[in-house]
Amino acid sequence: MQTYELIQKTRRLEPLCEEEIRFLVEGFTKGEIPDYMMSAWLMAVCCQGLTSEETVSLTLAMRDSGECLDLSPIGAVTADKHSTGGIGDKTTLLIAPIAAACGGYVPKMSGRGLGFTGGTIDKLESIPGFRTNLELDEFLEATRKTGCCIITQSGNLTPADKKLYALRNLTATVDSIPLICSSIMSKKLALGADCILLDVKYGSGAFMKTPEDAEILARLMVEVGKAAGKKCRAVITDMNAPLGAAVGNALEVAEVIRMLRGEVRNSLTDLATSLSAQMLVMSGKGDIVECRKMAEQAISSGAALEKLRIMIGMQGGERRVCDDPSLLPQAACQMTVKSESRGFVTAIQSEEIGLACLGLGAGRTAGRSAIDFGAGVEFARTVGDFVGQGDPLFTVYGANADLCADAAARIRRAITIKEAPAVQRPMIHKIIE
Ligand code: URA
Repeated sequence: MQTYELIQKTRRLEPLCEEEIRFLVEGFTKGEIPDYMMSAWLMAVCCQGLTSEETVSLTLAMRDSGECLDLSPIGAVTADKHSTGGIGDKTTLLIAPIAAACGGYVPKMSGRGLGFTGGTIDKLESIPGFRTNLELDEFLEATRKTGCCIITQSGNLTPADKKLYALRNLTATVDSIPLICSSIMSKKLALGADCILLDVKYGSGAFMKTPEDAEILARLMVEVGKAAGKKCRAVITDMNAPLGAAVGNALEVAEVIRMLRGEVRNSLTDLATSLSAQMLVMSGKGDIVECRKMAEQAISSGAALEKLRIMIGMQGGERRVCDDPSLLPQAACQMTVKSESRGFVTAIQSEEIGLACLGLGAGRTAGRSAIDFGAGVEFARTVGDFVGQGDPLFTVYGANADLCADAAARIRRAITIKEAPAVQRPMIHKIIE
């Protein structure tokens, strides 16, 4: 088989068979197919697309490029969840303990921040002492005992994706629905959970800018998951404004704790409850009405907070943060910005918020790998809220006054205030089963 011919076939829209796709993935992973040839094939995929059969073959070949976990020692139906990434997206930190408090089992491998979006692992590492690099047997045992455990991607899972993703990043080929689908789904399938819940985001703070594109990606991922024998569902959700009130690692953990203590309730609470309910339905815990009620009770009774506390302790973290979020890292400097006008907050450009937080040191940029865990922003008003002239609009947290002032100016420009409220979009656009 010649790589040259396979590139030409994809360029000419002639579908590749399973064997041809495996040849490409295995050859590239072993270093037998050079980067320049794989880049040409990736670019052909970007421009011409792949059929859903080709996407299934690509995903399965990527899954099989490395180790696949055996979750059977957990001894129960397991559920995984993936978000395509967003600003202030701390839903995993809520869903895992909520589902665990309702009898679900959530063994989760999460990622770090990517571009302007945050990552669950960075958020968890802001908790003093928290270990995200557990050994596999510790991971399985912690999930079996607690119902949830969240660690960083480890072991030799999907080496093909690691190599392909690095090449896509350098060759402007990230932005392709079949490539995004195979990258995400190969990792989910290698982890091996029985049920996979996908939160596919659209909007200014997401990789998919429109609900239509998000739906194409969601349908493809569900099809691939089902072809691999998994229970798979996708929820298409709005990421035009940041999720919840906080953006930034420790600030987001504090928001999660306050939410589970019942001190905060906003659109994030509703989304986390809906996603937890979907996960519980997939895990066979009841119908959607029963599971939603269970999820709500897990929050109101404090059972979900207790699960979070146990999970933090099992992973070596300071569990007292659940009683006192001020034990989380604090920024050296803070600056509150007040509204110059009165009216309703009608929009917050979430990509701008993500970039402002990157500038504050809340995420990684080229040449800077350390994160300022305390950095970020907390909104006193979010979309739909009324704000009076002189009322606090948001507070910026950072290492010094200059960083805070730059971010504050950028965030202020990203907020629109109008006399009349905007029509509210539902957080959940569609559910694909
Ligand atoms: N996240 C992934 O894991 N892969 C992609 O290709 C895009 C987002």
